[in-house]
Amino acid sequence: MSKLFSPLQLRETVFKNRIFVSPMCQYSAVDGLANGWHFVNLGSRAIGGAAMVMAEATGISPEGRITPHCLGIWSDDHVDALQPIVEFIKQQQAIPGIQIAHAGRKGSCDVPWKGSVYLSPDEGGWQTLAPSAIPLTPNHAAPKALALAEIDTIITQFVTAAHRALEAGFEVIELHCAHGYLLNEFLSPLTNKRKDRYGGSLENRCRLPLTIAKAIRDFWPQDKPVFVRISATDWVEGGWDITQSIQLAKWLKEIGVDFIDCSSGGLMLDAKIPAAPGYQTTFASRIRTEVGIPTGAVGMISAPAQAEHILVTEQADAVLLARELLRDPYWPLHAAGELHVDIEWPLQYARAKP
Ligand SMILES: Cc1cc2nc3c(=O)[nH]c(=O)nc-3n(C[C@H](O)[C@H](O)[C@H](O)COP(=O)(O)O)c2cc1C
Repeated sequence: MSKLFSPLQLRETVFKNRIFVSPMCQYSAVDGLANGWHFVNLGSRAIGGAAMVMAEATGISPEGRITPHCLGIWSDDHVDALQPIVEFIKQQQAIPGIQIAHAGRKGSCDVPWKGSVYLSPDEGGWQTLAPSAIPLTPNHAAPKALALAEIDTIITQFVTAAHRALEAGFEVIELHCAHGYLLNEFLSPLTNKRKDRYGGSLENRCRLPLTIAKAIRDFWPQDKPVFVRISATDWVEGGWDITQSIQLAKWLKEIGVDFIDCSSGGLMLDAKIPAAPGYQTTFASRIRTEVGIPTGAVGMISAPAQAEHILVTEQADAVLLARELLRDPYWPLHAAGELHVDIEWPLQYARAKP
C-alpha cells in the first residue's frame, strides 16, 4: 500500500493520488494568453499521471504579471485560451488547477533567460504596486503604495479572475500569497509599513489576503476546494514567520479554505535559505498539526521514497513537485514503478509500461 498513490478527497473533489504539479511560470505567453506551449507543458504532466496539474501564477491584471510573458486571466479571451487545456487535463483524469496572482513590487521584470532585470515602462514594463513604496532592490523603481480605493480594485480583480477561472473549467483555485508577491508583501512587516487597516498588527496585515480568500470561497462551488499558497517564513529576522503563518492558517480555515500549500521565502532577495531536500516540509507539518487543515509539502522533493515518507509520517496530505516534473513529466508513472504500485498508464502508452 502506497500513501503517495492513495486518493485524497477535499470537499467532493477526489485526487487520484497525492502528487500535484507545483505552479511554474513559463514566461511564454503573449498578452497573457495561453498557447501551444502551455497546452503541451500542462498536458504532458497530466498524461504523466499527476493528480492535479496547476497552471502557473496567472496575473489578475496586466500589471499583476511578473514579466510581460506571464499568463493572465483578465479578459474573456484569456478564458477561451485556457479552456481547451483545462478540458485536456480533465480527459487525463487529472484535476486542473490555477494559481491566481498579483506580482506586486516584483512585477515588471524581464524573463529569467534575459536576467530577470527590471523593465521600465519605456522598455515594456509598468508602474509596480505594493503596500508600501519600498523597492525590491536599488535597481528597481519604487512601487506605488496602493491607495485604499486601489486596494478595493485589487480585491475586485482577484474575484473577477476567480470567476473567469471557474468559467474556464478549473476545479482548484489557488490564491498566491507566497514568494514576495503582492499578497505576501501585505503579510510581511518588512514590506508592509502601512498605517491604515491593512498594516501594522498581524490582523491588519492579514486583512487583504483574508478578504480575497473569503470572497473567493463564498462563490467557488461548495464541492470544489480553494488552496492558498503561503511563504511560511521570510527567513529574515523580524519578518514573517511560522508563528504568524499558523495564525493566518487558522483564519483561512475559519473562512473555509481547504488546503495550505506551504512554501517559503522570496520576499527578501538577501534571505539566507537553508535549501536542502525537504527543507520546507516542517512548515506543512506544523500547520497541519497545529491548525488541523490539509497541507501540501513542496521544495526539493524528487525521490519517490522521499515523497512517500513525507506522507506516511503525516507531515503533509500531498506533495507538490516543480523542477523534478520539468526533468520528467512522467515522474508519477515512474514513481509508481519504483514503489511497486500498479497504476494505469495512458492507453496510448500502455505498450511502454514496464
Ligand atoms: C520554472 C519555475 C517557475 C515557477 N513559478 C512559480 C509560480 O508560478 N508560482 C509559484 O508559487 N511558484 C513557482 N515556482 C516555485 C515552485 O512552484 C516550487 O515551489 C519550487 O520550485 C520548489 O519546488 P521544487 O524544488 O520541486 O522545484 C516556480 C519554480 C520554477 C522552477
